[in-house]
Amino acid sequence: MDDLNIPSVIPVDESYGRFSGLEEEDRDASSAYSVASSAYNFRMENGRRYHDYRDGHPFPHDEVSEENEMAMHEMCLLLLDDRYYLSPIDESSLRCIADIGTGHGLWAEGVAEKYPDAQVVGMDLTPHARNVHPNCSFILADATEEWVLDDPNMKFDLVHIRSLFGGVRDWPALYKNCFDNMRSGGCIEQMEVEIDAQTDDPEVLPGSQIRALCEYTRTHLSAAAGRDFDISLGMKKMIEDAGFVDVQEKRLNLPLGPWASDPKLKDIGRFYERFYKTGLQGWLLQVCTRRLGWTVDQVNEACINAFQEINARKQHWYYPMVIVIGRKP
Ligand SMILES: C[S@@+](CC[C@H](N)C(=O)[O-])C[C@H]1O[C@@H](n2cnc3c(N)ncnc32)[C@H](O)[C@@H]1O
Repeated sequence: MDDLNIPSVIPVDESYGRFSGLEEEDRDASSAYSVASSAYNFRMENGRRYHDYRDGHPFPHDEVSEENEMAMHEMCLLLLDDRYYLSPIDESSLRCIADIGTGHGLWAEGVAEKYPDAQVVGMDLTPHARNVHPNCSFILADATEEWVLDDPNMKFDLVHIRSLFGGVRDWPALYKNCFDNMRSGGCIEQMEVEIDAQTDDPEVLPGSQIRALCEYTRTHLSAAAGRDFDISLGMKKMIEDAGFVDVQEKRLNLPLGPWASDPKLKDIGRFYERFYKTGLQGWLLQVCTRRLGWTVDQVNEACINAFQEINARKQHWYYPMVIVIGRKP
């Protein structure tokens, strides 16, 4: 994991903020969710589309969430130098791969295309509309319940989990299912953003909405949603507790916006800004309005304030991305 060339202290591009480099869509702080109005047969709530399979999921599943997942997917490919995983598995031995909480299925489809000899299974609480590659299938299931696979003898070489913060009620049950459905020697790999905006700037502008939302998420959202928004902090131990060995953790810093001088980090920052701007309203909306007494306008105002803070191009925020890899003995 040490060959990714991501410095722990991110060098700042000195010209950042001196010129007007915002894309048109970034200027309009509210544009990220204006397209979320088409009604399919999912439940609409406050202009976003949700599914109700099992006890539902607190984040929307719609065109905006697809754009959000696309930003995460492209950012991770950049971060990992075009690799789909970092686990120490010989590519030629990959036969069965699972993507848990696959969402719109971008990772599952991409890995299926890259490894046509492997069978890829994407699992999610949300039904999947398309099936592009013959070696990729999608299962509608709750990953915390017993997995019912088309081939009951299937054992996975690699189980991939990405960006499930705030989604899962019972992580130990999910990790146990991963363990039970893997072959000996197979790897589990999970990537989660730590919801903790950090900066090396000598001064932090007072009243930062970005930082306030991180603190509010940590102190209120997990309890209100009954789901862990801080999974990045606990996943290594829970993966060890499930029986995995040689568990390693790697932390990489993601700049929020294109403020790094390094070209790779600058691009990562662009994608991370898109991820943040297309994600924030969806992460807050249902939990804050249903359980924490916020109005929709208050949620939108908090989002717009945070987006305007990014657009001001003054502060150099970054968030840790935590990657945990473990092996089934
Ligand atoms: C933010 S999306 C992440 C999508 C994808 N992993 C990625 O990186 O782009 C989280 C997904 O996890 C799914 N999810 C949450 N809890 C789940 C569970 N218990 N079983 C299966 N899927 C779950 C949600 O339905 C949602 O589609």
